[in-house]
Amino acid sequence: MERYREIIPDWASFWEALERPLPIVIRTNTLRIEPQTLKRRLEAKGFDLQPLSWDGTCFLVHGETPVGNTLEHWLGYYYVQEASQLLPVKALGPKPGERILDLCASPGGKTTQCAQYMEDQGVLIANDNSAKRIQALLANVYRLGIKCVVVTEAAGENFPGPGNFDRVLVDAPCSGEGVARKFPHLRCGASLGTVSRLSTLQQRLLVRALELVRPGGAVVYSTCTLAPEENEEVVKHVLDQGLAELVPWEPPVPHDRGLSRFGEKVYGPELQGAVRIYPHHFDSEGGFIAVLRRPR
Ligand SMILES: C[S@@+](CC[C@H](N)C(=O)[O-])C[C@H]1O[C@@H](n2cnc3c(N)ncnc32)[C@H](O)[C@@H]1O
Repeated sequence: MERYREIIPDWASFWEALERPLPIVIRTNTLRIEPQTLKRRLEAKGFDLQPLSWDGTCFLVHGETPVGNTLEHWLGYYYVQEASQLLPVKALGPKPGERILDLCASPGGKTTQCAQYMEDQGVLIANDNSAKRIQALLANVYRLGIKCVVVTEAAGENFPGPGNFDRVLVDAPCSGEGVARKFPHLRCGASLGTVSRLSTLQQRLLVRALELVRPGGAVVYSTCTLAPEENEEVVKHVLDQGLAELVPWEPPVPHDRGLSRFGEKVYGPELQGAVRIYPHHFDSEGGFIAVLRRPR
C-alpha cells in the first residue's frame, strides 16, 4: 500500500481504519418488507439497528449472533451488503421498465439492489463467467424473490450483442485492495503483475459494456481496489478512444475525487469526475466509481 501514501489524504487514519473490524450493514429488500417492519422484527431478536444517514432502507447492525442466521434473512427480507458496495447502483440509477445489464454480477449484491430500484419491472440480465459463483447469484435472486432477473454465464468481454441496454454495470473483477479490512493479507497491496493483468481484462470489459449500452445510455464502472491502473487508467482508456464521456458524480458520502495523475502517469483533470472511497471516509471498504455515458 506504501505506493499510495502520496494519494491518500490522512494516511494515519487510513491505516487505523484498516485495522478496525468492518461494520455490518444490511439492505432491506423493499420488494418484500418495509424497512421499519424489518427493524422491529430484528430488534425483537436482540439486534440493534441504526439506519444509515444517507439511505434509510439500510441499517448498521450490532448483535451477539451473525445477522445472516435469522429466519428473516432466509425469507429474503434483507441482503448483507457492505456500505461502500451500495454506491455503484446508486450511481447507475436503474428505473422500473428499463433494460439493464450487470456484466460481472455474482454473488448478486448489486443485481438484487438494481432489481429493487427497478421495482422488479423490466429486464435485468445478471451475467458472470464463473459457474461456481453463479450458484450464489441464483440462490440470492431466488431468496429475495426477484422475478425480473435472467442469469447468464459468459465472459463479459465477449458478451453477445447488440444489447441496446439502457444501463450497464461493470463491477469489475479486481485486485481487491479496498477489502483489506476483511482480508488482512491484502494490506501489503496487490502485486503489480496482478494489477497489470487485471487492468487489461477490465479495459476489455468496459469497452464491451460501452458497445452493449444504447447511445446516450449509462455505464457505471466500479472496483473495490485502490490501484490507479485498475481505476483511472481503465476509464482513461475508453475516454481516449471517444467511446464514452465521463459524467461527474457526487455520492451521498464523504469521498475523494478520481486522480488526475499518479506518479509519472497523467490521467487528466476530467478523471476528477470519478469517485474514490477510502476506508476512513465513512468506516467502510475502499473502492472506485465512475459514471460514463455512451455518446449519441
Ligand atoms: C467484484 S465481483 C462482483 C460482485 C457483484 N457485482 C456483487 O455486487 O455481488 C466480480 C465478479 O466478476 C466475475 N468475473 C471475473 N472475470 C469475468 C469476466 N471475464 N466476465 C464476467 N465476469 C467475470 C467474477 O466471477 C466475480 O463474480
